[in-house]
Amino acid sequence: MGDIILTGDRPTGRLHLGHYVGSLKNRVKMQNEGNFDKMYVMIADSQALTDNFDNPAKIRENLIEVALDYLSVGLDPEKVTIFVQSQIEQLTELTFYYLNLVTLSRLERNPTVKSEIKLRNFETSLPAGFLIYPVSQAADILLFDANIVPVGEDQEPMLEQAREIARSFNNIYGQVFIEPKAVLPDQKIARRMPGIDGAAKMSKSLSNAIYLADTKADVKKKVMSMYTDPDHINIDDPGKVEGNIVFTYLDVFSNDSHFEKYLPEYKNLDELKAHYQRGGLGDVKCKKFLIKVLEEELAPIREKRAYYEQHLDEVFDILKKGSEEARSKGSEKLNQVKAAMGIDYFNDRKLIAEIEKKYQG
Ligand code: TRP
Repeated sequence: MGDIILTGDRPTGRLHLGHYVGSLKNRVKMQNEGNFDKMYVMIADSQALTDNFDNPAKIRENLIEVALDYLSVGLDPEKVTIFVQSQIEQLTELTFYYLNLVTLSRLERNPTVKSEIKLRNFETSLPAGFLIYPVSQAADILLFDANIVPVGEDQEPMLEQAREIARSFNNIYGQVFIEPKAVLPDQKIARRMPGIDGAAKMSKSLSNAIYLADTKADVKKKVMSMYTDPDHINIDDPGKVEGNIVFTYLDVFSNDSHFEKYLPEYKNLDELKAHYQRGGLGDVKCKKFLIKVLEEELAPIREKRAYYEQHLDEVFDILKKGSEEARSKGSEKLNQVKAAMGIDYFNDRKLIAEIEKKYQG
């Protein structure tokens, strides 16, 4: 059997360059290479509600924003099934059975959840739904027999828990689930796209992100305000490229043909860096180049987004069809689960036969 790929995002905000470089770009590449039996992309709205239960309007709105971002980067509903987590009731059902296979102390050990609890000040009043979201995430993956889960490093503990749950279920009830593995982005830099302020991570909460939906003017303004080398005061001063976000972004996005087109006095990024380090090269010149490089990537995305913003019915329809398909797959698998657990009573004449034997001899 070929690979079944599944991945997803919480709809808590629009997607930014960090998401793009860390995962979206790779999803589109995988989609187009087509080396799989099936590829799912899930909008994890139920998971998003575990720490936004008091703000459902935020999740509701961002469901569409995330769908728009997906379609604008080139995810193709003809090739991948895009679906909405909350619409697959089998996921909730499976989560309930999985909860029996997980201890409280195991849940409390998940390092990603631990740091999220701190971040959200949940220490003194932890919603149970939040603590168990990795179990629900295991269901997301295992219900669809996904063996490949492309995610960021922070999701590794979720995959580990999913494998444990699969193993434990299979041991008790018989072989039903496949143990999935995480596939991390290979480019080291892609794993952590820094914010425009120089903070280690691009994030909505830090207001340091460049969004896929940003206008050309937004992008320009953000790049112009980017953190560089604070000691590079005069053009002639030698500059640092390490930790200089303009160069971090150029590392990720620029190639030699960009130089040929927009900055032909340099052959490549190494030459540009060398000049910056020597002194005599200003930040503004580098930033203007970066804007052109980013625009090459972002302009087609923006154009596609504009189309779908004007055709929201199509977006809705894509999500609805994808969810229907996922539900039908999920229902097949859940039947298998219930049969393995012996709780598919009404499809199981053996139960009556067993009890008959007990009473009627
Ligand atoms: N926890 C993931 C995140 O925060 C989102 C997610 C939910 C997910 N279910 C998933 C990712 C299943 C991969 C597979 O990004």
